[in-house]
Amino acid sequence: MTTVAFYSGEQLPLEMHKVRIVQKITLQPIERRLEAITDAGNNTFLLKNADIFLDMLTDSGVNAMSDRQQAAMLVADDSYAGSATFTRLENTLQSIFGMPYFLPAHQGRACENLLAQVLVTPGSTVPMNYHFTTTKAHIVMNGGVVEELLTPSGLEVTSTDPFKGNMDVAALRKLATDLGAEKIPFVRMEAGTNLIGGQPFSLANLREVRQACDEFGLLLVLDASLLADNLWFIRTREAGCTQRSIADLTREIADLCDVVYFSARKLGCARGGGLCVRSQELYARLRPLVPLYEGFLTYGGMSIREMEALAVGLEETLDEDMISQGPQFIAYMVDELDRRGIPVITPAGGLGCHLDAKRFLDHIPQELYPAGALASATYLVSGVRGMERGTLSEQREPDGSERLAEMELLRLALPRRVFTLSQIRYAIDRIDWLYQNRRLVGGLRFVEEPEVLRFFYGRLEPVSDWQQELVTAFRRDLGDSL
Ligand SMILES: Cc1ncc(COP(=O)(O)O)c(C=O)c1O
Repeated sequence: MTTVAFYSGEQLPLEMHKVRIVQKITLQPIERRLEAITDAGNNTFLLKNADIFLDMLTDSGVNAMSDRQQAAMLVADDSYAGSATFTRLENTLQSIFGMPYFLPAHQGRACENLLAQVLVTPGSTVPMNYHFTTTKAHIVMNGGVVEELLTPSGLEVTSTDPFKGNMDVAALRKLATDLGAEKIPFVRMEAGTNLIGGQPFSLANLREVRQACDEFGLLLVLDASLLADNLWFIRTREAGCTQRSIADLTREIADLCDVVYFSARKLGCARGGGLCVRSQELYARLRPLVPLYEGFLTYGGMSIREMEALAVGLEETLDEDMISQGPQFIAYMVDELDRRGIPVITPAGGLGCHLDAKRFLDHIPQELYPAGALASATYLVSGVRGMERGTLSEQREPDGSERLAEMELLRLALPRRVFTLSQIRYAIDRIDWLYQNRRLVGGLRFVEEPEVLRFFYGRLEPVSDWQQELVTAFRRDLGDSL
């Protein structure tokens, strides 16, 4: 691994690329930001891009592409069937994951739909390290339930466990013994476990999960959407792996699994998705659904240009200089905030930096949505857009009562190779200011609450005039700064 030491002794993430295309962004004055977040019903999903300075909502489909990816998009073959672009992508996937069959899909959740339709039956249980929203929805829609088997540190906000995404393999064995293998259509491991803060599993853990699956004759499915980050953590944190190449680690991970599916909005820095399958029998069951839901078998709903970019992006994922950029920037942000005493999920994971709203705003009860209030306040004081991952993102119980989330997080995603270090330092500075003024922040309440996926479209208002008070304090401390 290449490391660059600074003479000053500072430890800074160093970009191993240069920027050749830029997009102008605007930082509006705080008074305009107050109008914008009010118009958006305090829901960051409803903000308009013109009002956003640093968009940290997600890393989905917004990672920077390389010059080689852009160039590849120009040589795409757009034949409806039998396109050479498909063959290039298929060959790349086969050489990386070593699985004989590939089915394209328009994005990650489409792969989940296909898998759930073919494998999940009413009354079945799918064990996994942790759920992702769309994964769970597809399993439940097909009559199954999800059983989360994270090891206990996975849900501890502050921890020193380098692999918080590990599965409790003893619990998996117990579940399989209690239910019987016939009730378990597959076991799912999610790389870079999204909803607990982009936390990785270890290769050793995956090997143990495979062993348990073999004992009970269970299928092992990998959600590889956030595999790039997970690979980096295995490479840098796991004993016995630090001298191995990324390609070699990737192949061992795939060899342990029966199916590898992914969102190419994340893995490969493009837009699309796909399933790599080992068994011909399973491939034959999945295949008819692709033309039905996605598109013909050689494009699966993806744009042909994105497929070319994806093939190159996947190859580039094997380059440690490429996959190190996200985790190193995230670690910088997390460690700097932690050093200032600001509550964040530790250790730093992939995907982004996660602020712990339960501790940041410990005076706001969960019923008044502390993570939502933190998302609104962070935008107001900085123009940085994050995503609420707490009670607002939950669905109410059937009796209408709130389902209070286990964690109240504000996720600040760091799309790969998009932001510079000074932009990250700006975000840290404004979050620090907000933390010093956190007692000014109040809760939110719904004014419009959709029944389904309320976090996408719901509108909320502050329970007092706390936002105006924040603006006044900002002007007092920062003068006429934007
Ligand atoms: C782990 C994981 N699985 C599945 C998905 C769904 O992928 P997509 O958004 O492409 O449908 C995502 C998206 O964020 C994800 O993070």
